[in-house]
Amino acid sequence: MSTDAPPSSPREYRAGSDPRTLRDALGCFATGVTVVTCLDADGQPVGLTANSFTSVSLDPPLLLVCIGKNAASAAAMIGASHFAVNVLQTEQQPASIRFATRHEDRFGPNDWSPGEYEAPLLESSLGVFECEAHAVHDGGDHHMLIGRVVKARFDAALDPLLYFRGSYRRLHFD
Ligand SMILES: Cc1cc2nc3c(=O)[nH]c(=O)nc-3n(C[C@H](O)[C@H](O)[C@H](O)COP(=O)(O)O)c2cc1C
Repeated sequence: MSTDAPPSSPREYRAGSDPRTLRDALGCFATGVTVVTCLDADGQPVGLTANSFTSVSLDPPLLLVCIGKNAASAAAMIGASHFAVNVLQTEQQPASIRFATRHEDRFGPNDWSPGEYEAPLLESSLGVFECEAHAVHDGGDHHMLIGRVVKARFDAALDPLLYFRGSYRRLHFD
């Protein structure tokens, strides 16, 4: 019998349990990593790391990302006419960390450019979805921000940055 596998220790969350346990349970869902960007009311670029990204609809073309109501950029995100979802590739882990760290100067001068629809785009992203704001729904301690995709570009040759159980992970495809 192999001794390499970690001992299995299933855990359980029930309503009223420690929210940390729910967070750990949700962390079992492996995701990609995005940086969501827009311009604030003063025209300054703002953005944050988000893995709550999902597709919603092909016709019309809709996607969803959840923005914490306490995030510094929350007001800008729900007030913006357009936003962008930058899907990160393996080399962009430093950007993911920067866009998840408070008080950090997130936009370096050379690593973004204005998109066709206002929102800043991160250079060398695996994919970029430029969106028109479509709807904002209440989602408890998050805003559910739904965007209508007006432009998408992607580079199928790049490998995705992943997030699983609270750590960054990589996948390489030949
Ligand atoms: C991998 C990862 C995924 C995250 N996903 C989300 C998310 O989906 N929504 C969100 O609001 N915050 C998410 N965060 C946390 C925000 O990036 C972070 O709280 C935010 O950038 C705080 O800075 P701000 O308040 O200045 O915006 C995530 C962080 C990491 C590291």
